[in-house]
Amino acid sequence: MNNAPIGVYDSGIGGLSVWDQIHRHLPDESLIYLGDGKNCPYGGRSREDITRFAEEAVEELLRHGVKMVVVGCNTATTAAIEHLRSRWSEMPIVGLEPAVKPACLTTQTHRIAVLATEHSLASDMFLRTAARYSEDVEVVKVVGEGFVELVEGCDEFGDKEYEVVRRVVEPLMDKGIDRVVLGCTHYPFLRPLIERVIGNRGIEVIDSGAAVARRVEWLLERYDMRAEQGATPTFEFLTFADEEYRQRLVRKADVLLARAANFDVRK
Ligand code: DGL
Repeated sequence: MNNAPIGVYDSGIGGLSVWDQIHRHLPDESLIYLGDGKNCPYGGRSREDITRFAEEAVEELLRHGVKMVVVGCNTATTAAIEHLRSRWSEMPIVGLEPAVKPACLTTQTHRIAVLATEHSLASDMFLRTAARYSEDVEVVKVVGEGFVELVEGCDEFGDKEYEVVRRVVEPLMDKGIDRVVLGCTHYPFLRPLIERVIGNRGIEVIDSGAAVARRVEWLLERYDMRAEQGATPTFEFLTFADEEYRQRLVRKADVLLARAANFDVRK
């Protein structure tokens, strides 16, 4: 048993989509979220830069006493996870990978699309995973151009934001795909817009949030690190940007917490 918090880290706001899934799945666990904010977006940056940011983030989370770190960022995972795991080999560090496996295993048309950042799609880690599961599946890779900026820029999406999403997603519609994998943790916040473009074409949108939450649970069990049952969890928010940005993380998380609470009531 261990009531210390779990640290969740991302380049910015996106990892809150993972934070949300962990909270829903493990409601007794306290969480500390670190949204870099200062160096976001990571997508077009070098591996060295991203590794340095990720290292600073883990150091900061450890100063706050976390028992485990979830790198809630596909880009930072592809760039830095091996380095982080070798530097902090005594602590479980969970990474994020696009849900290529479930998409490849369930596609009927044998064609899937993966939306992610430039860095993730070009990484060895992604290419290895794609090659492993996509023997008879064609994987269409697409950078979600402008998506991270949309999520960082505002919380309410209108026609302008829809247009940015439509420009990227619509060209996929005549490619014969039946799965769209969201390979960046910012993208689940754009899911309503992505699904609006897809309409009723029977294309399933998949992200990795729930699978990561299950993996976190599995590791907590394995290392006997679960919080006490019925414990009152605490939520803390950190950033390398300014107080205004930190407040934005708090507000966004509040909305997610309210939705999670409603979800429980309806169950
Ligand atoms: N949320 C991130 C990811 O999952 C990073 C986006 C970015 O900073 O470019 O890839």
